[in-house]
Amino acid sequence: MSIYFDEQKKLFRLDTSGSSYVIGIYDQGYLLGLYYGGRIEDMHFDRFMTRINSFSPYNPKVKDREFTPDSAPMEYGCNGAGDFRISALCVRNANGDNVTDIRYAAHRIYKGKPAIADMPATYALDEADCTTLEIDTVDRVTGLEVTLVYTVFETQSVMTKSVRVHNASDSPLVIERVFSACNDFPTMDFDLITLHGRHARERHIERRALVHGLQGVSSKRGASSHNQNPFAALVRSGATEESGEAYGFNFVYSGNFSAVAECDYNASTRFLMGINPESFEWTLQSGETFFAPEVVCVYTDKGIGEMSRIFHRFYNRNLIRGTFKDAKRPLLINSWEAAYFDFDTQKLLDFADEAKALGIEMLVMDDGWFGKRNDDTNSLGDWYVNTDKLPGGLRPLVDGVHAKGMKFGIWFEPEMISPDSDLFRAHPDWHIHVQGRDPMLSRHQYVIDMSREDVRANIWQQMYKILSENDIDYVKWDFNRHISDAGSVSLPSERQKEFFHRYMLGTYALLEKFVSTFPNILLEGCSGGGGRFDPAMLYYSPQIWTSDHTDPIERLFIQFGTSMCYPTSAQSAHVSACDRTGYETKGNVAMWGTFGYELDPRKLTAEEKEIVRRQIQDYHKYYDLHRRGDLYRLVSPFENRHYAAWEIVSPEKDECLFTLVCLRHFFCGSLYLRLRGLDPDKMYTCDLDGEQYSGNFLMRVGYNMTNLANQDGASIQIFFHA
Ligand code: GLA
Repeated sequence: MSIYFDEQKKLFRLDTSGSSYVIGIYDQGYLLGLYYGGRIEDMHFDRFMTRINSFSPYNPKVKDREFTPDSAPMEYGCNGAGDFRISALCVRNANGDNVTDIRYAAHRIYKGKPAIADMPATYALDEADCTTLEIDTVDRVTGLEVTLVYTVFETQSVMTKSVRVHNASDSPLVIERVFSACNDFPTMDFDLITLHGRHARERHIERRALVHGLQGVSSKRGASSHNQNPFAALVRSGATEESGEAYGFNFVYSGNFSAVAECDYNASTRFLMGINPESFEWTLQSGETFFAPEVVCVYTDKGIGEMSRIFHRFYNRNLIRGTFKDAKRPLLINSWEAAYFDFDTQKLLDFADEAKALGIEMLVMDDGWFGKRNDDTNSLGDWYVNTDKLPGGLRPLVDGVHAKGMKFGIWFEPEMISPDSDLFRAHPDWHIHVQGRDPMLSRHQYVIDMSREDVRANIWQQMYKILSENDIDYVKWDFNRHISDAGSVSLPSERQKEFFHRYMLGTYALLEKFVSTFPNILLEGCSGGGGRFDPAMLYYSPQIWTSDHTDPIERLFIQFGTSMCYPTSAQSAHVSACDRTGYETKGNVAMWGTFGYELDPRKLTAEEKEIVRRQIQDYHKYYDLHRRGDLYRLVSPFENRHYAAWEIVSPEKDECLFTLVCLRHFFCGSLYLRLRGLDPDKMYTCDLDGEQYSGNFLMRVGYNMTNLANQDGASIQIFFHA
């Protein structure tokens, strides 16, 4: 077992291959978060409580007068009972106060991992894959019971945390905030890394040193969002890509989130991650339980790059599921940037002809096939075929594409409704709005009330009809606006603040229905590009459209940022017609992720077609390496103005695909690049010069890349094999 309980010392230790996590049961049942970091064996935490107090109240029942919840490392800091730091839990009690004070009651240790009711979460491959500790705590005054759930994946340096809140009292309790992870660190010598952005510029990496007080990122847009991602890392000051301690946290949730660090007068750090308390409340009737989503925690002392690789391997193995977890994903061409709304059956069949000749395997018909949609002003919610564009319905098109030996994919935006739609005319109260207020529009559309069963049933019926009557291989599930005017006409006034979370639960219910009914349809997530690129969505869709920006230079930043925690297998990346670089570089950059095309193939010149054919051969040649390999970010575009470079190395370390892109050649000097992650003792043949180099040489001396990609936007890919 990798979870131990020292009965005498009252200490739990949760071990993985690379980390230990220690929780103590202290006097009066206080639960303390004593350690998270590299592996340890002995547990001398007796002196650990010695800290500075500053006007901090103490509990007279505790023997040690030094102890105060305000300065102790609390395992799950609650509001109002002497801990003045930002709280993980705050519950409004029957008499109106919001003091919450939980103490140890019981615990269980068992193999495997429990599911979280109605919620996406990482999973165990089998019982032996992981071990779980559940600690029950209780607030003896209010009857609130809180269970802290920890699962360690021994071989992966990964721990997951989630929380269950149960009302064992006779009166209702109102949860005002419930974070899923709380980590108290004794120091504040950390940098916080987060991923900020906006539409078409997602997940840019930002790093800042912690300061006293509060700092962090959040979303209250009803989506995890382009603007901030539910990822945060605390890295020890000075940590680099290759060395130093890194703690990565990623929230398995697609709605409003908050990731916040507070450094206090003790120069200690509390880090919280969970549902954004703003616009959240949850009434728990007597006997009811609330399940907070999970946070994935990764620790390594081998640098930020290794933290990312641990996330990647873990998500490919223990988060992504279904037929396409391991199956080869079809190489697709998407109609959006090729035609936007301007297509018909014949045009799409022409695309398919051209694409097939290039070696492309699937045609995806994007937005514009339903209702009367010829632009973005109408028809969302009317999920029946626009027969002006597609005479005779979908069949002739789908069958025509299949007859060419290609697969067929289609676009939906199930959570939206246009005011100009038959659905809206029939159900003018199905969109999200609050009584007496005109709701805001965004891209001419409203969000539909997914918290309502009847609304979901209607959307499902419409989708089911299309998907069951046609032989569809792929669905792109889009979400093109954020949620304002939040509320549901189906909820009583005292429950309106539950709406955002109920919306997510409804969306997850529909997604689950989709994947369980159509397990052989490949689902791709999307939200105006990568606006909902989060682990919860990956639980349903093994790939997500990374960004609406398909220019390869902009994409480098987005892809580097996305790779902080998300595997390349999840990042859809297409070659498009944008003209900032040539097709070589477009292909080299798109090959980072789940590869495809998004252009009018009829417009490619003979020379471009030749490049595309070669790219597709390369895609197949390196597919396995990409799927199984480890990503090494060698030169980050965020740190180097001239170049970006990365490698994919096979788990056996016998293959390495290296890519270099020149951002700005002017005055960059000569360039020796040291590779990483190779076997020092293996000899590697370089496909560029045919020479053999030892792994040791390539990692210590490097490879001379000077003049290899020496124009703005040029790039080169080099394959090394042992
Ligand atoms: C979003 C997506 C695009 C495309 C359009 C269609 O912006 O990110 O790829 O599907 O919607 O309206």
